[in-house]
Amino acid sequence: MSKLTIAEKVASDMKSGSWIREMFEKGRRLKAELGAENVHDFSLGNPNEPPPDAFFQALQAVAADRQPALHGYMPNVGFDESRAAVAKFVSHEYRMEVEPGAVILTTGAAGGMNMVMRTICNPGDEVLVLAPFFVEYKFYIEQAGGKMVLVQTDEKFQPELDAIEAAITPRTRAININTPNNPTGAVYTEEKCRGLADLLKRHDDDEHPIYIATDDPYRRIIFDLDWCPTPATHYDRTIIVSSYSKDLSIAGERAGYVALPKALPYRDMIFAAMAMLNRTLGYVNMPAFMQRVVARCAEALCDVDSYRSNRDLLCHALLEYGYELTMPGGALYAFPKTPLDDVEFVNILMKHNILAVPGRGFGRPGHMRISYCVDRKTIERALPGFKAAIEEARNRLSPVAQ
Ligand SMILES: Cc1ncc(COP(=O)(O)O)c(C=O)c1O
Repeated sequence: MSKLTIAEKVASDMKSGSWIREMFEKGRRLKAELGAENVHDFSLGNPNEPPPDAFFQALQAVAADRQPALHGYMPNVGFDESRAAVAKFVSHEYRMEVEPGAVILTTGAAGGMNMVMRTICNPGDEVLVLAPFFVEYKFYIEQAGGKMVLVQTDEKFQPELDAIEAAITPRTRAININTPNNPTGAVYTEEKCRGLADLLKRHDDDEHPIYIATDDPYRRIIFDLDWCPTPATHYDRTIIVSSYSKDLSIAGERAGYVALPKALPYRDMIFAAMAMLNRTLGYVNMPAFMQRVVARCAEALCDVDSYRSNRDLLCHALLEYGYELTMPGGALYAFPKTPLDDVEFVNILMKHNILAVPGRGFGRPGHMRISYCVDRKTIERALPGFKAAIEEARNRLSPVAQ
């Protein structure tokens, strides 16, 4: 292969690699060897709850409609009826006004966040990302010519406001906020959300605007609160990015959106830039069929209780076995400390046919991500392995005298 076969940047990104992909490959080999039912796979964040009834009813209604225009091209930002339904839902969910004309339907939150980064970053602009973090951010930011600046969260994975303020420079253009969080399951407190907004206001102005880009696909997957706090409520220069991947359990359908709150300065200019980018990035917007479906079930939600009960089963058992763990308040993940080096410990788990992802893959070594969006039986079957693995780690740390 010549050095010019693929772009150097891509080659280097591939080398720095994704631990999730690596675990997926190891898992695939293990499943081929042992049979899939004997491998306890906690490596992927693929929602396993069935979509809600309202989604299936909407699917049927849209499928029965024979208008040819249903499957055709549409405005770059999506069908009006679907944008209106999303705007109504977002206004209610965020407790602020979002107009239908300020919603852009995207190919998942992923497509939306990519578009946002391209909209606001000039080459060399800095985007703050709180670690541990969703690894794709690095690629979205760099593809937009920006630079990711990591800021660690505290022991409980809450934002450290002083550290964020210290990381702000004249090149800071945005901060990505993901609560409930992948990989930690942390739900940022109201106090932190307000504090973040207050500190940004001290640095933000029209000459040096600093955006909050919220990445909110887990917003409604919360277990201990009725409503998820958000900095969007406190800070005008916020762009909301989200999707129905988790709410409706339809991650493969690529149903996402970007919503521009009414208070966002220069909202119309930002909207116009996004309307162009949504097309020129190539993937355009949420597929037509799904837009019609979402228009009919924009407020529906899968069974969050089932995720809560998985969290409780897994996390209470881990705590009982002696794992150090901050109880996740939402999303689909637990992020305990590993008693040994994270890669070493994940390899011990693999000997018990358990797949988890080392924390270093998310910018926080010494931890691991366990995705509990799995069948409850998978958790039950894996618990003895989690127990045996921590015991084995303890023996490695203090071997019994012979
Ligand atoms: C934090 C975070 N952001 C964005 C995404 C992508 O979501 P979507 O399927 O809506 O593109 C994911 C997917 O797992 C995620 O965990």
